[in-house]
Amino acid sequence: MRNMTETQLTDVVVERYASTPDARLRYLLQTLIVALHDYVREARLTETEWMEAIQFLTRTGQMCDDKRQEMILLSDNLGISALVNLVSAGAPEGATETTVVGPFYVPNSPQREWGETILLRETDEPSLIVRGRVVDCQGAPIPDAGIEVWQTDSNGMYDIQDPTQAVDNLRGHYRTNAKGEFLIRTIRPTSYPIPTDGPVGELLEATARHPWRPAHIHAIVTAPGHRPLVTHLFDAEDAYLDSDVVFAVKESLIRNYAQNSSEEDAARFGVSAPFWELETDFILAAQD
Ligand code: BEZ
Ligand code: FE
Repeated sequence: MRNMTETQLTDVVVERYASTPDARLRYLLQTLIVALHDYVREARLTETEWMEAIQFLTRTGQMCDDKRQEMILLSDNLGISALVNLVSAGAPEGATETTVVGPFYVPNSPQREWGETILLRETDEPSLIVRGRVVDCQGAPIPDAGIEVWQTDSNGMYDIQDPTQAVDNLRGHYRTNAKGEFLIRTIRPTSYPIPTDGPVGELLEATARHPWRPAHIHAIVTAPGHRPLVTHLFDAEDAYLDSDVVFAVKESLIRNYAQNSSEEDAARFGVSAPFWELETDFILAAQD
């Protein structure tokens, strides 16, 4: 077909993808083409604007390496990661809610013993003890579940962003005991700005948005026969809970960090008093 109108062009392109053998891929591509063409028509996109967008996406891809994931950061900043989480990773009734994984996840972080700290440096800061149980939706404890955690250090950076930190600082894998209990030792997380020295920083600057995430600890909780849970534990006192730059806060994931001054409790957990304490359970949904 030649001399097509704006809408005929879309129909022709969609038709050209009709022979895609995989039905799901065909659906995803044809729907994407329609949405993108609608956008171009509605915005009356100019060739200069489209070229700027292509250059922006090119810079975003070029910024990626094994430690920097600017594409995930872009997806997070456009709210796409949070939306994909909402449409595809919803927690069944009663299970702990999920949220985005973010660009700072590193697989295969070290195994940590019961109550061992993930902070790999000396500090005068009070410890934070995170403890609770991993249970199923009926409340039954899940022994030998895996709990993988990661968080920023008090300078607001993850180990992979900051060469002054030890490798695997503030990351690790714990396991629950026979009663489904876990004991994690760390420090209280702080709010932190996402990296702004790349294309996503340009986007934030151009749109007058702040780069802050509310303080949180990331967790991935796994157990055979259960859906893997990718979640955060947010700090109820944080100033950025209502304006998270990546739109990932869910009310049910906000937790209170309590101060504990008991020398006896501190000795029990192998920390100094006073220390912070966060009690929380992770509730896993059964595998579909
Ligand atoms: C994070 O929490 O690590 C994160 C998530 C999305 C974008 C940037 C950071
Ligand atoms: Fe984070």
